[in-house]
Amino acid sequence: MALLNVNIDHIATIRQARQTDEPDPVWAAVQCELAGANGITVHLRQDRRHINDRDVHVLKETVACKFNLEMCLNESIVKIAEKVRPDQVTLVPENRAELTTEGGLDCVKFEKRLAAITKRMHKKDILVSTFILPNEKQILATAEAGCDAIELHTGQYANATKDSIIEKRLNELQDGRDIAMAAGLVVHAGHGLTYRNIRPVAKIEGLCEFNIGHSIISRAVLVGIREATEEMKLLIECP
Ligand code: PXP
Repeated sequence: MALLNVNIDHIATIRQARQTDEPDPVWAAVQCELAGANGITVHLRQDRRHINDRDVHVLKETVACKFNLEMCLNESIVKIAEKVRPDQVTLVPENRAELTTEGGLDCVKFEKRLAAITKRMHKKDILVSTFILPNEKQILATAEAGCDAIELHTGQYANATKDSIIEKRLNELQDGRDIAMAAGLVVHAGHGLTYRNIRPVAKIEGLCEFNIGHSIISRAVLVGIREATEEMKLLIECP
């Protein structure tokens, strides 16, 4: 059965809009977990635009389900991961001007750095996943670097509006899954997934973990985070 990690970055986005102490992402994480979330994901960005260092430390002490830390390859962030020891890190590209993570990590270009970080994470019993486009070279470079998993970038699927393009993107995700599994990698997926577009992706066998943020937090504003989490979990489990 595929698992749901709720990305709670945007709880912190609301807090940072007033630079105050509410809403607290730690409270949100507890509610998600009570609603059946299998994991909590946060992205500690270099500019600390939403999640901050305190959040990461307190979440590590609080979250009983999987704690997945999204992060770039920057050394100061890697050092924080070594200290905090989340269950998993998902390595992403990061550009200060972007609204959200754009594109996948270039694992071919950064394979050496990736291998070095993976070694360090494994020393601390942290699983390593890379956020990448469903591209054979990227997948094989991830495997070569010794990582445990990939998170297939579903943004291009989510942005597609024409049926033929949607079909094409779904096929690319399936091909990516096949290459990754043949290389011994576990396959996750995420980005841009919503209550409307999750079903066809959740039906792809072998995608075992979904990281979903914006859509769940948006719905949570209207129905509460527990109900929003439960609804998404149901769609993933019974697509
Ligand atoms: N996976 C990764 C690697 C991400 O960077 C993000 C956005 O922070 C997500 C998943 C979640 O994307 P969304 O907020 O569109 O659900």
